[in-house]
Amino acid sequence: MKVAFFNTKPYEQRSFEEYLTDSKHEFTFFEPNLNMDTVPLAEGFDGICTFVNDHLTAKILKRLSDCGIQKIALRCAGFNQVDLEAAKKEGFKICRVPAYSPEAVAEHAFALILTLSRKTHKAYNRVRENNFSLKGMTGFNLYQKTVGVIGTGSIGRAFIRIALGFGCKVLAYDLYPNEEMKKLGVSYLPLGKVLQQSQILSLHCPLTEDTKHLINKSSIQKMHDGVMIINTSRGALIDTKAVIKGLKSEKIGFLGIDVYEQEENLFFQNLSEEILQDEQISRLMTFPNVLITGHQAFLTHEALSEISRVTLLNLDQLEAGGTLDNEVKA
Ligand code: NAI
Repeated sequence: MKVAFFNTKPYEQRSFEEYLTDSKHEFTFFEPNLNMDTVPLAEGFDGICTFVNDHLTAKILKRLSDCGIQKIALRCAGFNQVDLEAAKKEGFKICRVPAYSPEAVAEHAFALILTLSRKTHKAYNRVRENNFSLKGMTGFNLYQKTVGVIGTGSIGRAFIRIALGFGCKVLAYDLYPNEEMKKLGVSYLPLGKVLQQSQILSLHCPLTEDTKHLINKSSIQKMHDGVMIINTSRGALIDTKAVIKGLKSEKIGFLGIDVYEQEENLFFQNLSEEILQDEQISRLMTFPNVLITGHQAFLTHEALSEISRVTLLNLDQLEAGGTLDNEVKA
């Protein structure tokens, strides 16, 4: 299959090229993301491969369909960027990579937690300036802390296993509680109770109409004073304005985010020579107890290999026209 690969980053291209040597598919790597201006690049191809910030809106899907494209391989797990109803109407076949490395994301969530709890980001800078003072460096133990996990799918479960290893008490909320987690000692409680009782809250549910702004003014009010909120899932799970207020009032003690509601115009690019126009992320960056990473939780060698391997298998199945193991549909 001739595949137009949108939104190419060098690390992805390297990983896919390793796998392409044994594959019959032919890739053309395009740097721009997929939008109304770049959609004509797909002309003459049999399918496209896109990432989280390539919005497959009804308009774009229509244009792709006009270009003769019917097959899409998402090289990510989340699919909230796809208008599934429009895709169905236009007859698209879409696959995703459901779980390329849950541990990569779960471990990154803990990197955020440990950096915030032990201030290693400050220590790194201080020590480089020969400042060995420990003033302001007091942290807290994870041992015996209560950790609340919202969403116990593959990433939430990997996160819980690590939390249990630290000796944390784990509370969880999911529409479908998991028996294996219960056996490990996890207590499933209603959302309000998890918010109320957790000293650390980590979000691992998908972004849906129900979960949009799950962290908002009223849910923050219910939380433990000084709570640590970690979001490696999707930016819009958090109402940023409400979180800024919570940080200012010190209701929220720490915030670690790998995703941000308005990340689309910021993340995955080097903007170091530009003036940031986004007031909210600029405000977040002024807090000493906020840590932001740019949607890199997935980015490990192991995860990239798995994304390449599964995407090529998905393309094999899309080309064969039979059953699709990783199909995404309305
Ligand atoms: P998954 O599909 O295995 O698990 C999601 C869990 O959330 C399921 O158990 C589901 O029942 C639960 N859920 C759904 N709606 C809910 C609701 N309203 N309230 C509570 N729980 C609900 O997904 P997985 O692989 O664990 O990924 C979770 C999320 O992580 C993805 O949706 C994606 O947004 C994000 N992600 C972020 C990455 C990053 O690099 N930062 C990389 C990969 C995924």
